[in-house]
Amino acid sequence: MTGIHISPARATDHADWLAMRVALWPGGLDDEHGADIEAYDEDAQSPICLIARNGAGVALGFAEAALRHDYVNGCKTSPVAFLEGIYVRPDTRGRGVARKLVAAVEAWAAGLGCTEFASDAALDNVQSHAMHKALGFTETQRVVYFRKSVKA
Ligand SMILES: CC(C)(COP(=O)(O)OP(=O)(O)OC[C@H]1O[C@@H](n2cnc3c(N)ncnc32)[C@H](O)[C@@H]1OP(=O)(O)O)[C@@H](O)C(=O)NCCC(=O)NCCS
Repeated sequence: MTGIHISPARATDHADWLAMRVALWPGGLDDEHGADIEAYDEDAQSPICLIARNGAGVALGFAEAALRHDYVNGCKTSPVAFLEGIYVRPDTRGRGVARKLVAAVEAWAAGLGCTEFASDAALDNVQSHAMHKALGFTETQRVVYFRKSVKA
């Protein structure tokens, strides 16, 4: 697809960002998504949100990324640039929007001196696995999280 423009999220992007965030993470409350977006500092080095738009200004997708200073599975350096989330509108998938978003995140990571760029995906999200492999990521580990309530 030609005419895909990637730029850091600004206040004018918040409504589109919120709608796409809810589509990507429907389990979260709209209020929580809204609070996360309001807390976002567009001048900070990390985290970042990049918005993809077409030539007509229609929002096509977004990517969120952050520097992770804690241990990142499969990585050897710190901090690691981490792809926290990526979403492309269903009707524009398969046209290179995610490829452009990931390239922009990688450029951001390189600019901060990172030598590793990591990500994750649910075990059953095979489309995301395919995308990551197509975009140059290699699979490192498969993990299952657990939790248990603790009585105070
Ligand atoms: C995964 C997702 C972001 C891909 O976005 P996209 O814009 O369609 O991806 P692109 O068109 O840029 O494709 C990039 C590469 O990944 C591959 N790819 C993307 N989706 C794929 C799929 N469903 N099956 C196989 N390969 C796929 C493409 O073939 C392409 O490689 P190529 O250029 O060598 O052909 C999009 O399907 C999406 O938003 N899914 C729902 C949200 C989600 O699962 N996000 C990831 C959470 S970890």
